[in-house]
Amino acid sequence: MENILVTGGFGFIGSHTCNELIKNNFNIIVADNFINSSKKVIPKLEKVINTKIKYYNIDLCNKESISNLFNQNKITAVIHFAGLKAVGESVKKPILYYQNNIVSTLNLLEIMEEQQCYQLVFSSSATVYGDAKSPLTESDEIGFGVTNPYGQTKFMIERILKDVTISNPKFQITSLRYFNPIGAHSSGLIGENPNDIPNNLMPFILKVAIQNNTEHNLGKQYEHLNIFGNDYNTEDGTGLRDYIHVVDLAKGHIQALKNIKDGYSTYNLGTGKGVSVLELVKTFEKVNNVKIPYKIVERRPGDLEKVFCNPSKVKNELGWVAEKSVEEMCKDAWNFQKNNPLGY
Ligand code: WQD
Repeated sequence: MENILVTGGFGFIGSHTCNELIKNNFNIIVADNFINSSKKVIPKLEKVINTKIKYYNIDLCNKESISNLFNQNKITAVIHFAGLKAVGESVKKPILYYQNNIVSTLNLLEIMEEQQCYQLVFSSSATVYGDAKSPLTESDEIGFGVTNPYGQTKFMIERILKDVTISNPKFQITSLRYFNPIGAHSSGLIGENPNDIPNNLMPFILKVAIQNNTEHNLGKQYEHLNIFGNDYNTEDGTGLRDYIHVVDLAKGHIQALKNIKDGYSTYNLGTGKGVSVLELVKTFEKVNNVKIPYKIVERRPGDLEKVFCNPSKVKNELGWVAEKSVEEMCKDAWNFQKNNPLGY
């Protein structure tokens, strides 16, 4: 039986992609060390996909564990999500990030080549564009003005992947550059489940929403949202981002897998529309009938004013377009959070 290996498959995007893979009749095997995910997601995901998931609790930095997995299963292709991804943490712990994200990927590539498994879809990020001007296209220079080790690891891994396809033309590798994934599966069973105080906007909004609109007490730090600056050159002065529903993002991986081709390819996965922080907050309040108290504070160092993509290449080549609205993203995110007020 042919299988798709999903590394980091129990994480936020990984779990939603596992659902889409099963819906598209792929067999999946997950490799996850649960550093950034909870085992509690497994029964919930199995309920969503209505099937048991075969998984290996392994660290990809341990090459032998990958080898064992490939020796025990016929792997046709790999979708590689596993990696540390907290921007702020990466600034404090660069060695951990370079070690973990790059060594794990090198190990995976080495075993894939040994096992003659040549198809790989890689979870990359808009952060590789650094301070390039939006709207961002795949031909824009990457690696300049990348302000954190997390983003640097994504840039370096893309360079490694490209070199591997040059050294061995049998490899078919696609990097998907995510913009800002938010939302959750409509069941409310799976969603974003950050381990500690969230750095990203939507997970923080969700905690503030729980704190101010339910009987749960998550702590004083969630009494209001801090909006990092309203003096940007945007309509309402707050930062613009390209928010994309995580289910749309997951579907993009299926299209990339089904249309994988020789060499190295890259695609932006975004809506192509910039939404401001205040717009997102107001939309969230409106569609969910909740209050999100906020304060305008100083800009966050390293933040860019506007980050959004030109998504025409993925539409023309993979036939993929983001379909879900910001309203649906806000509604689905809140539906998950209400069902899991304290996380999984
Ligand atoms: C979005 C906007 C902030 C928090 C992330 C990371 C990385 C990447 C997704 C994958 C900005 C503002 C935020 C808050 C705020 N993922 N904000 N108050 O900065 O685009 O970067 O993109 O690679 O996780 O690179 O996402 O959600 O942190 O910020 O005002 O408490 O919300 O200033 O304008 P960002 P974000």
